[in-house]
Amino acid sequence: MRPPWAAARTAAAGVLLLASLARAGDAPGERAAILALGPWPPAPVRDSANPASGQPAGIALGELLFHSPRLSPTGLRCASCHEPWRGFADGRVVAQGVAIGARNTPSLLDAARHRHYGWDGAHDSLWAQALRPLADPREMPTTEAQVATLMRGDAALSARYAAVFGGPPGTDDARVEHDVGLALAAYVETLASPRAPFDDWRDRLAASAGDGAPSAGFSAAALRGLRLFAGRAGCAACHSGPAFSDDALHASRVHSQDADGHPDAGHPGTLPNAFRTPGLRGVAATAPYMHDGSAASLCDAVRPHAADADASPSELGAAQRSDLVAFLRALSPQPPDDEVACRP
Ligand code: HEC
Ligand code: HEC
Repeated sequence: MRPPWAAARTAAAGVLLLASLARAGDAPGERAAILALGPWPPAPVRDSANPASGQPAGIALGELLFHSPRLSPTGLRCASCHEPWRGFADGRVVAQGVAIGARNTPSLLDAARHRHYGWDGAHDSLWAQALRPLADPREMPTTEAQVATLMRGDAALSARYAAVFGGPPGTDDARVEHDVGLALAAYVETLASPRAPFDDWRDRLAASAGDGAPSAGFSAAALRGLRLFAGRAGCAACHSGPAFSDDALHASRVHSQDADGHPDAGHPGTLPNAFRTPGLRGVAATAPYMHDGSAASLCDAVRPHAADADASPSELGAAQRSDLVAFLRALSPQPPDDEVACRP
């Protein structure tokens, strides 16, 4: 139980903070930049081209397949790499399927909000991205024929398929695998980040025209980090909007190679080393970071890492990085409450 004067002291700190916001000279701009990072959650995304999207039977079939060791003859599941209790990532530096991959496994939370998928944004539909690991010889390789045979040969799966797609799986293997992709996509669409302490803080700011005091789960350090994020550090130029991503490609300073020594240049196009801005909700749960998993901790990840960011400083001090990390942690539903101290 907090003594009554504690609340008064917090309120007083808020007044001081607002005063300092005003002194910064750009309080309305800063307020607008912060409010643009919400509200959360937005309305669910539906794909009108996918008959399984938003349909309980389609979502349930996708969930079953996502967790099934039978989808691939290797016994690997989607959930082997996208583990639900790790924010649908896997905690490894790079993915490990039947062989070591070249890239880190990204979280699937809020994937439905992207228009481009994969670290390099190479796929533009969720169902195509959902089928990619089945074709990748390093992940969970299988064939259209094997997937179709599974769906046709199992009475329960076949009945579920019929309930979603209007008839049992037919003889066209490619069509059946395509529908499996649609069901997987319908399930992945439902994976959304929960609200976090930042959202409560932001909504109060929106409602009360500027009570900017720290609050439960949103410490003074997190607040300093937010002001850096939305302001001087330039992070929100790319990590923008309620999902903290502009869904666009940027030149990354992180250069990597696959196990055979081939450079991973990201998206093939005119921009060198181009990667898609990842969202940041729940990011505290999905270390290590970056497309190659080379940043072991959030302290490492918040070093300036994009080459085309004119607005952001070229280096950030340890104290600033600690504040940024405190803010990023407040994008998870239950942020750890220990202090963050990034090394220089
Ligand atoms: C061996 C580990 C592994 C397995 C198994 C796996 N994935 Fe992935 N997944 C990855 C990696 C690595 C990426 C990033 C790929 C890239 O950028 O080239 C990824 C990316 C994705 C994305 C895009 C996310 C985004 O934000 O762009 C989706 C969706 C996805 N996987 C769904 C699935 C589904 C559905 C399955 C099962 C059919 C599956 N994954 C199986 C490792 C895996
Ligand atoms: C110019 C656009 C841009 C700016 C500015 C930017 N980022 Fe990023 N951010 C990216 C891209 C692109 C990646 C992925 C890079 C890669 O994997 O090589 C990324 C990756 C990250 C990651 C790792 C996420 C994960 O899941 O692996 C974190 C954390 C992050 N950024 C935080 C920040 C912070 C904090 C700032 C401000 C100091 C910032 N970013 C500024 C574009 C940007």
